[in-house]
Amino acid sequence: ALLGIDVGTSSCKALLLDPSSQVLATHSADYPVLNPHPGWSEQDPECWIAGAQAAVRGALSKCPGVKIIAIGLSGQMHGLTPLDKDHTVLRPAILWNDQRNADEVAAITEAAGGLESLLAQTNNPMLTGYTGGKIAWMRRHEPELYPRMRHALNPKDYLRLRLTGEVATEVSDASGTGLFDVRNRQWARPLIERLGIDPEILPPSHESDVITGRVSVEAAEAFGLEPGIPVVGGGGDAVIQTLGSGVIDPGDLQTTLGTAGILAAALDTPAVNPKGRVQVFCNIAPDRWHAMGVSLDGAGLLTWFQAIAGELADGAGNVTIEKLVERASKSPPGARGLVFLPYLSGGRCPHPDPHARGAFVGLTRRHGDADMVRSLLEGAVYGLRDMYDAMASLGLGRHRIVTSGGGTRSTLWRQMQADIFGCDVVTTDGAEAGGAMGAAMVAGIGVGIWADASTAARLRRTETRCSFNPELQETYTRMFTIYQSLYPLLR
Ligand code: XUL
Repeated sequence: ALLGIDVGTSSCKALLLDPSSQVLATHSADYPVLNPHPGWSEQDPECWIAGAQAAVRGALSKCPGVKIIAIGLSGQMHGLTPLDKDHTVLRPAILWNDQRNADEVAAITEAAGGLESLLAQTNNPMLTGYTGGKIAWMRRHEPELYPRMRHALNPKDYLRLRLTGEVATEVSDASGTGLFDVRNRQWARPLIERLGIDPEILPPSHESDVITGRVSVEAAEAFGLEPGIPVVGGGGDAVIQTLGSGVIDPGDLQTTLGTAGILAAALDTPAVNPKGRVQVFCNIAPDRWHAMGVSLDGAGLLTWFQAIAGELADGAGNVTIEKLVERASKSPPGARGLVFLPYLSGGRCPHPDPHARGAFVGLTRRHGDADMVRSLLEGAVYGLRDMYDAMASLGLGRHRIVTSGGGTRSTLWRQMQADIFGCDVVTTDGAEAGGAMGAAMVAGIGVGIWADASTAARLRRTETRCSFNPELQETYTRMFTIYQSLYPLLR
């Protein structure tokens, strides 16, 4: 079988896929995010390793005797794992949703010659989430650690190091550093040098399906695997899960409601990034690119509200997500005029503003808990729709949306996506395993089971479908127009 491992933000997931592309088993292991200061988001890299070992062992135990022929890695993007020359971790990893480095991002943009010049070199603005700004933050704020940094790795590439002993990355995660020439699929070396960053700290970059190493004897023992299994490049979660959802050719949209909210599409050229408002990255297939918008709060909005509601209910947080969603279904489409802005962790797309804030707008005495939860679910989907509008110049299709992430468990939330976008919304098998499905598929491409990403993508099976209700278009169009007007007014 093929093994996909996804180092997510809240858990590590492992998925076993057989050569006919059937899911054999999945297993996941949770770990915490640390918020030592407002706006900071960190994680101990050791918890990824322990999580990956638990997830892999758990999945393997469900398929006694299974033989693993290749491994693919996926992970939360952009995180900085700084290592010294002996591969010792220098400080907790700084994650994708950390917002501490706005000053460094502004300085990088200026040093690069302004936004236009930066876009010409990388096709992406430097955002607070991206790895490049985190490296600059360490240089300025941790001068005793910075000179010792010899490797700057994204989370899944740290797992690769621990699995194979090899320092390597691949084009999709490299794109998310903000230091990568996405058009030419190589490090933006002149930019890196201009910023005074040592290019040697960035790992060699490969295409996503290339075998970058093999499971070491030591790792085999720790993960319950055989030594020598090939490990392919894999991909950043937000990119690889579009493949895992079966979306690799232009025409369909892919959305994710996980910790982050993501709207993505495949491109067959490296399209010009509209004013740098979206993310245009290298895709998993060597002849494809990937456009996406990301919100820092996806299904996490619901867990935020769950904690509040739980405190109110019994002081112990005992309110289930199912109960909240059931309450939301009691409020009509449009939540009786209540609108929620989903910027609890600041904005990214279409408003790259770390100071953006969440808000309930339009509260009256007739609104109750049902309307509040409903407006929160709707706000998350308006956020995705807003990203789609920001991508208008890319001419994306909207044949259907393939959706994934924890938020897809709710039929109400999937139906909202269909009604707010005006197209069908489907889920595919294995989508719950996040990037692990795409990672297993890339592993299969890497060892020649499938000829290419399009062939592998066609094997995904549709599991659920929500058709859109044309009668709701008017209500939702009106509410979405209000939603779009609010951020500029509140700023
Ligand atoms: C993508 C992004 C998130 C993280 C965490 O740009 O920031 O999707 O990869 O999932």
